[in-house]
This record gives sequence, C-alpha cells and structure tokens, in this order.
Amino acid sequence: MTELEIKKAKLPRDLKILEQLDTLSFPEYQDQIYKESWEKYQNYIVFVNKKPVGYRSVQPHTGLYDYATDTHEKKREALHLTSVGIIPRFRRKGLGTLLITWAIAYARLGKFESMNATCRKSNKPIIALLKKTGFKITSEIKNFYPDGETAVVEEYFLKKSRF
Ligand SMILES: CC(C)(COP(=O)(O)OP(=O)(O)OC[C@H]1O[C@@H](n2cnc3c(N)ncnc32)[C@H](O)[C@@H]1OP(=O)(O)O)[C@@H](O)C(=O)NCCC(=O)NCCS
Repeated sequence: MTELEIKKAKLPRDLKILEQLDTLSFPEYQDQIYKESWEKYQNYIVFVNKKPVGYRSVQPHTGLYDYATDTHEKKREALHLTSVGIIPRFRRKGLGTLLITWAIAYARLGKFESMNATCRKSNKPIIALLKKTGFKITSEIKNFYPDGETAVVEEYFLKKSRF
C-alpha cells in the first residue's frame, strides 16, 4: 500500500533533503534557494513510501522578493508562497495541487487575507497549477529575474476565493 505523508522540515537535520529536492525540481533554472535562506522559511516535505519527492516553502507577512537586495517586501496580511517543487518522476499525480491546497488551508487557518507568489512567465506548469487552485494573475514585472525574464504576480484572496 502506498504511504503519502507531509512533514514539516526540521533544520539543520533536513537541509540536505531540501537542497536535493530543490536541485532536482529546478535543474533548468538558476532559481534554487540559497543555503542560508531555508532558515527564513517554513518548509514542508512530501514523502511517498518514505521517499522525499517534493517540498513547499512559505513566508508569513512578506510580498515580492527582490533579487538585487535579497529581501522581501513586507506585507502584513499576506502569506508568501516562496517555492514549490516536485521531482520529475512524481509530477502530474496531484502532489503539486496537494501542496498548494495545503498552503491555502494553512493561510486560512492563520487568518491571512491573501497569498502571493511570483513565477517566470514561461513556467506553464506552475501557472496552470495556480490557476486551477484559484490564484489570479494580478500583474507582470519585466526584468524581474536576474536573467531578465518577466515575472507574473499571482495572488489568492482568501475572503473571496473558495477552492
Ligand atoms: C509546478 C509543479 C510543482 C507541478 O507539480 P505537479 O505535482 O506535477 O502538479 P499536479 O499534478 O498537481 O498538476 C496540477 C495541474 O497543474 C497543471 N500542470 C502541471 N504540470 C503541467 C505541465 N507540465 N503542463 C501544463 N500544465 C501542467 C495541470 O493543470 C495539472 O492538472 P492535470 O494534471 O489534471 O491536467 C512541478 O511541475 C514542478 O515541480 N516544476 C518545477 C519547479 C517549479 O517550476 N516550481 C514552481 C516555481 S515556484
């Protein structure tokens, strides 16, 4: 029987697992999380039959990230979705949806008013996943990423949306 578990990552114990998941999830982009940044996030790992296959990281009370200064804008009532990744072999099985809907429930329980995230405009899978779970694209920012790619800003308004 398949076992499916989500566990909160404990640092420094789970740092290696998070780094491996991040590398396997983002091999084509330079968007991996800096080693020292994991401490700033709340990180959750999804396991299938005890094997780590994905993660998601959130940050309360923050908005957009600025690559130039390595800081997030402050946003009192918002939960920032920092990152989500599923290793390639386990994609298209609903695990990304599971992690996003988990984050929405977490935001609702924490009485946040909204969630926000930025994605590369070319990243069709995450844009489709966020659309499916009720996020709306509220703006675009040109030259957002260090390589010049445009970001789409995604938001989920908890008072209005029901996934
Ligand atoms: C984005 C990502 C997390 C999706 O995870 P996943 O487990 O495959 O997602 P799900 O199986 O829950 O898919 C849910 C929906 O998202 C959309 N989707 C997922 N992958 C897609 C793809 N390759 N192309 C188009 N739509 C896609 C579909 O609407 C899908 O529903 P469907 O399978 O019923 O058609 C995964 O592709 C990933 O880890 N990508 C690399 C890391 C990344 O880019 N993270 C986001 C940046 S923060």
